[in-house]
Amino acid sequence: MKIREMQDEIIRLKKEKDFCILAHSYMSPDILEIADICGDSFKLSEEAVKVKNNNLLMCGVRFMAECAKLLSPDKNVYISNTDAGCPMAEQIDASVIENFKKENPDYTVVAYVNTTAELKAVSDVCVTSSSAEKVVSQLDSDNILFIPDKNLGSYIAKKLPQKNIRLLDGCCPIHNSVTEDEAILAKKNHPSALFLVHPECRPEVVSHADYVGATSGIINFVRNSSATEFIIGTENSIRDYLMLEYPEKEFYMLSEKLNCTDMRKTSLSDIYMFLKSGKSNEITLSEDLATKANKPIEQMILLNK
Ligand code: 13P
Ligand code: SF4
Repeated sequence: MKIREMQDEIIRLKKEKDFCILAHSYMSPDILEIADICGDSFKLSEEAVKVKNNNLLMCGVRFMAECAKLLSPDKNVYISNTDAGCPMAEQIDASVIENFKKENPDYTVVAYVNTTAELKAVSDVCVTSSSAEKVVSQLDSDNILFIPDKNLGSYIAKKLPQKNIRLLDGCCPIHNSVTEDEAILAKKNHPSALFLVHPECRPEVVSHADYVGATSGIINFVRNSSATEFIIGTENSIRDYLMLEYPEKEFYMLSEKLNCTDMRKTSLSDIYMFLKSGKSNEITLSEDLATKANKPIEQMILLNK
């Protein structure tokens, strides 16, 4: 089947079966074209609540589908590829946080949305990379434990020096693999390019950036900029997307290593096969877990208004 035929069939099937397709910005262009909602983690969470369809299909990784389920408990939420997980989401065990809270009752636990529902359930508030600064700045408590991403956490700590932010040792293995030398080399090779970086990169890489932001922020920066050359410091699918959208501009990779195998697991044919066969990729969470894990996400949406 040709790509166009498959896309037409997906569009027909999603209408027939009352599905809304949500796709993270890292998805390939053939998926973004058939999705109803595309964006970064925050946009996907926010929009999932407003959707009228009874069924949601998440094209991304598992924590994104879980988030959609937590925010829309009455809807049936599915994930296009059940093998797609985010390694960072599982780096810390919920019992570590429970013990920390017992020993440090004056701390607020802030969980990056790239966490399991179990970790969210023991956290006070969630953040995404685009909402973190605003949400953390509005917390009553100045003592904060930020989990799991030490890189995003240290970026927020620099932005908000009035807060006492403690970090654990989690990170995105993909973004964290980029070294400062690679950043320096990319800038040397492309001296006229603006350097746009995701805050999941190491602080020494972020320190060279002209702009730091979430995936949607990076895309919007390019859209609104009169500059014509950019080094893209996040997963390389964003560079591919920008090259298609803005063929008149030049985009360079920060590093060959910025390829998230989990985000690349979802293909157009996964979506087609799922909608056609009704294969059960449903996200289910116990009522108790869902109630506890929903609170920090709702809190994030409230504080980011
Ligand atoms: P965004 O919040 O920018 O979508 O980031 C999610 C993610 O997993 C980046 O690696
Ligand atoms: Fe997780 Fe990193 Fe992949 Fe994003 S790029 S989904 S944080 S492993």
